Amino acid sequence: MSDKLKNIFSLINRSGRLELQAPQGILLQPISVDFASPAFKYRLRRGGGRSQPLARALGLKHGASPLVLDAAAGLGRDGFIIAALGCRVIMCERAPLIHALLADGLRRALEDDELARTASRIRLCEGDCRILLSSLIGDEMPQVIYLDPMFPHRRKSALVKNEMRVLQAVAGEDSDSTELLDAAAQTGCRRIVCKRPARAAPLGGRRPDFAVKTLRHRFDVYLNSKRD
Ligand SMILES: C[S@@+](CC[C@H](N)C(=O)[O-])C[C@H]1O[C@@H](n2cnc3c(N)ncnc32)[C@H](O)[C@@H]1O
Repeated sequence: MSDKLKNIFSLINRSGRLELQAPQGILLQPISVDFASPAFKYRLRRGGGRSQPLARALGLKHGASPLVLDAAAGLGRDGFIIAALGCRVIMCERAPLIHALLADGLRRALEDDELARTASRIRLCEGDCRILLSSLIGDEMPQVIYLDPMFPHRRKSALVKNEMRVLQAVAGEDSDSTELLDAAAQTGCRRIVCKRPARAAPLGGRRPDFAVKTLRHRFDVYLNSKRD
């Protein structure tokens, strides 16, 4: 898709919900962030709690609830699940249109009885997380940094495929994601978790200390031995 087309995606308000719409002539469905959808609520209820792979990768054993920075928040699903596991989460998203969708989804989650408590644990920041990482101090410093940058060759269901295509068209390909991993490592945080497709190479070829695998994904875990 040309840069010119990328720039004419538009945000529309449909019955109180923001939707991101592709330019006319592009066969992509509008997307929005809806943490209250039945499918997502089911995922929250039946995801496996602290025994699920994501929780194990984050190190949530023995009741630990670290402050987690979701450094590539996207549509916020992973970050919201992390908050539902009991962690405080800082979400950071640099693509303004995606940030606007996410802010709208979080605002509506705060109004939903079932989701409000989880949503209240989340703080959303806009901008490049590499800059945020260099400015965090004291209590704001996360113990865990979670990264899920875009990966170009994902095979998903038709719906997610549409979502990923819109996301990629608007946010680009995250070709600088190794720099994000390096910036995260420089903070000296306890643990970095990087989500990758199951068969992809580790980000930037950096070998993780260990990995937690699922059918479709792999969470590469980098430990800071001085802190963990
Ligand atoms: C694959 S999506 C993340 C999906 C997300 N985990 C979810 O559950 O919806 C990657 C997102 O990271 C964002 N991103 C990539 N690098 C970033 C950076 N350095 N700072 C902030 N956001 C970044 C992109 O704009 C994109 O929206």
